[in-house]
Amino acid sequence: MSERNPYRPGVGLQPAYLAGRDDEIKRFGRLIGGSPEIPGNARLSGLRGVGKTVLLQRFKDVAEEATWSAISFEIQPRQNSESNLMSAIQSHGERLKESTSIAYKARSIAKGAADVARSTVRVSYEGFEWSLAGDLEPQTAELGEMLADLTQFVVQHGRKGLALLLDEAQILTDEKGSSGNHALSTLVAAVSTLQKAQVPVVVVLCGLPTLAVNLLNARTYSERMFQGFTVGSLPPEAAEEAFVRPLESSAISADPALVASVLDEVEGYPYFIQLWGAELWDTAHDAGLSAMDEAVLSVTRDRVFRRLDSDFYEPRIDSLTPAEQDLLIDAARCAYPPLMVSDLNGQSPKSPGNVNVLLGRLVKANVIFRRQKGQYEYTAPGFVDFLQRYSSRQN
Ligand SMILES: Nc1ncnc2c1ncn2[C@@H]1O[C@H](COP(=O)(O)OP(=O)(O)OP(=O)(O)O)[C@@H](O)[C@H]1O
Ligand SMILES: [Mg+2]
Repeated sequence: MSERNPYRPGVGLQPAYLAGRDDEIKRFGRLIGGSPEIPGNARLSGLRGVGKTVLLQRFKDVAEEATWSAISFEIQPRQNSESNLMSAIQSHGERLKESTSIAYKARSIAKGAADVARSTVRVSYEGFEWSLAGDLEPQTAELGEMLADLTQFVVQHGRKGLALLLDEAQILTDEKGSSGNHALSTLVAAVSTLQKAQVPVVVVLCGLPTLAVNLLNARTYSERMFQGFTVGSLPPEAAEEAFVRPLESSAISADPALVASVLDEVEGYPYFIQLWGAELWDTAHDAGLSAMDEAVLSVTRDRVFRRLDSDFYEPRIDSLTPAEQDLLIDAARCAYPPLMVSDLNGQSPKSPGNVNVLLGRLVKANVIFRRQKGQYEYTAPGFVDFLQRYSSRQN
């Protein structure tokens, strides 16, 4: 029996058991399987800590199992420009080419050259004779060519296509007007052009719920290009599996009454499940107990919340200005969800104009997102409860 804590609270850490995402994984498998004849892309979105990054990693596995090549990386704020996005894709592409040709050589030796030669013939196709329509923006054409070149390379090396998986893609936002950065619409337009020419390329954009609006603003047709995968809290059965299954390899078990209490407290949110599990397991382990029960929960709960605040919530507000933090403390007194601007104006001593400016900055800092006119939501689940704990500590 393993003596290591089986839970994995963290950022993008694969859990011991990925619960409740079978439908999404199957659906993505169908998307890859249908491409390029049925072109498709995915938009994977949800709040902080719901498990987008770990699901994106699974999507990458699905693509690779279907003999596609994959490039995946997390978008950095500086990459929100055509040229920086392109150089990021380029450098990941170079690495992919290197590993693809090494793997190809290894396969040719292992399988015998004849086999590989046959598969090369099978995948050679005309798709790459796509011509650049005269009305393509130069940047779109450049990115399109780069992706076509990469796809061609991997196909010539026995893969079926290229999947591009971008995490934190809500960072890509087009500036208004024709000047400025348009990394998102350049990407969308390049991929759309390639897919029309049946080039086997698939894009997955993963990020906060604002992704959908950004895409719509980038290109009106993008809505039809991307299948939406919205992930959120796990339904009760899956949440229970997420909590209980990791214990299968552990000497410590969970009492049914404790499971019920934990499920009640975590509201199905994957990060919380891992955090509660990790802390409860440590308490039981340190005390030499063979089961986690409600007594363990009652002595651990304070520590759970301290860690939740310091690891999950506080980093989101530490970098904000005092005025932005003050506005959040005012917001903690408002009914939720959603956060109504009219309500916030009633709770805050700041002028409506100032409140609006600060809300805009909180959107930029990814703390909140605009749901519709006059209504906002927090990007992290449970944030309003945290704000209440935080503001009571300030007083
Ligand atoms: N389906 C799941 N079952 C069990 N645990 C999960 C599941 N999905 C995610 N987790 C756990 O939840 C935590 C958060 O996962 P992840 O980092 O993928 O979330 P995220 O949505 O990408 O968050 P962020 O928006 O902060 O990037 C990790 O500890 C991970 O192990
Ligand atoms: Mg993530």
